[in-house]
Amino acid sequence: MDQFREQPSSGLSTAGGQIERKWWHGSTVYQVYPRSFADSNGDGIGDIPGITSKLDYVQSLGIDVLWLSPIFKSPMDDNGYDISDYQDIAPEFGTLADFDHLVVEARKRGIGILLDLVVNHTSDEHPWFLESRKGPDNPFRDFYIWRKPGPNGGVPNKLMSSFGGTAWTLDPQSGEYYLHLFSRRQPDLNWENPKVREEIYKMMNWWLERGIAGFRMDVIDHIGKQVDQAIVYDGPHLHDYLQEMSRETYGSRNVLTVGECWSATPGSALLYSGRDRHELSMVFQFEHVTRQWDPTYGKWRAKPFDLVDLKAVLSKWQYALAEDGWNALFWGNHDLPRAISKYGDAKGYPVESAKMLATALHLLKGTPFVYQGEEIGMTNMPFTTIDQYRDIETLNMHRLHVEAGLSPEDFIRGANENGRDNARTPMQWSKDPYGGFSTALPWIEVNPNYTTINAETEVSDERSVFNHYRKLIALRKNHAVIVYGAYQSWLDQHPDVMVYSRILDDERLVVIANFSGRDVELTIPNELKTKGRCLISNYDPVDALDGVVTLRPYEAFAILGSTSMTD
Ligand code: GLC
Ligand code: CA
Repeated sequence: MDQFREQPSSGLSTAGGQIERKWWHGSTVYQVYPRSFADSNGDGIGDIPGITSKLDYVQSLGIDVLWLSPIFKSPMDDNGYDISDYQDIAPEFGTLADFDHLVVEARKRGIGILLDLVVNHTSDEHPWFLESRKGPDNPFRDFYIWRKPGPNGGVPNKLMSSFGGTAWTLDPQSGEYYLHLFSRRQPDLNWENPKVREEIYKMMNWWLERGIAGFRMDVIDHIGKQVDQAIVYDGPHLHDYLQEMSRETYGSRNVLTVGECWSATPGSALLYSGRDRHELSMVFQFEHVTRQWDPTYGKWRAKPFDLVDLKAVLSKWQYALAEDGWNALFWGNHDLPRAISKYGDAKGYPVESAKMLATALHLLKGTPFVYQGEEIGMTNMPFTTIDQYRDIETLNMHRLHVEAGLSPEDFIRGANENGRDNARTPMQWSKDPYGGFSTALPWIEVNPNYTTINAETEVSDERSVFNHYRKLIALRKNHAVIVYGAYQSWLDQHPDVMVYSRILDDERLVVIANFSGRDVELTIPNELKTKGRCLISNYDPVDALDGVVTLRPYEAFAILGSTSMTD
């Protein structure tokens, strides 16, 4: 099975810049968080047969690729991002046969399956780690990163875990510490050991042979770490390892690979995704996310939304990867708050602002990723007490911050704004109990707004958020200018409105999005005066731009015109 798919669908006949065409340029990816998507057997936990049962829904949205957050065997300390067997399925999610069936059923609908490759670390229950911790002479000792205590008899150095506290845990048996950049139950693999790399490549090929469409690579910018120099991101051998990985596994196959890289800059993104680099198709960068965090307290303290800053980041990335490399476009995922609660207005303008955000993102250059529930406008969850949370990061941080003197109420305010469980509440399928997600009490509470925000209601409503996403995804398939058109931003300093154009040959697409809940009078720059066809809009269609346009709250639209029609 050498090739997931031939070149993309119709409509993409004009070459764009110097970028070599790939099937995933015109694709849209949908992320499933398996635990929260659909429960087929009434145990309150989503599962693979549940995903399979929703493939028609995913297909009707126009999705080409489904990325599944980890489905592998795991003690679920971090909901599957702690894997104890890379080649088996977690029993609560199903069996390998269920997975193979999903691949076949997805492929029948033109959908490829992207697996989550979590190889910076394993679970502490992985057999490699069980061996490794037996002692310094064990053949698997060097599969992980062990160090003797530091000069004062404590931790080897100051490296910190992303989930709070030191990144070192003492193993009393040998008196040595092992490294974990995440929870103590997620020991970091030692990528400097060629045997580790070889085992991982074998495992990747095993999955590729099963017909998957590629990998999302978890925190992949950590794998080149140099612990003794306290380098955790972007280590000296990172790109060597990725090139080796590509050569040994997917390089000869036409698959999609996307790296999760919190440290990515436009410069490093070109190294990861540049055409002659043979590393990844694209990376997730997080600059637009982290720039909205408090410089001191990070995501646990809310910061007012700044559109000028957000536009500056998005534009910077559009320009930087214009000729080489490729952008992954996303507002949300399982680690981030719900986009509408973050950048829109979930209370005052739930439908308008959800559609506006989708329009602004999907017409950029890059491959859009939709996180489950985003397409129906799911919102952050109004948690009120700490025991409603399930996320290990939130629970750890709560303990540390409250110990350090933050009031529990303040912590919950921060967590409700940015915590990871906001995006992990069950998918809202219908008005049925538990939102139609399960017949039993789900592992995490359903957002009480499921009676108004749910897939069943939206699929049949032509004016719903769902149908707006469906249109945007279809537009990408039919207009090469959306896939390959050159990007230009306008009115960068405007505090409320995002304006950009995309040009391919003699076609020009103008996109306007009001990020505010107010009417805004926008003076159209001369160069953007246009008569054309309205491709999409969240109010009445707009097909001409001239003089001053009054935008309604969260209004967004796109006009396709010709470059020769400018006044
Ligand atoms: C990534 C995942 C996140 C997980 C972490 C450790 O950031 O997206 O959910 O907790 O890696 O694997
Ligand atoms: Ca289940």
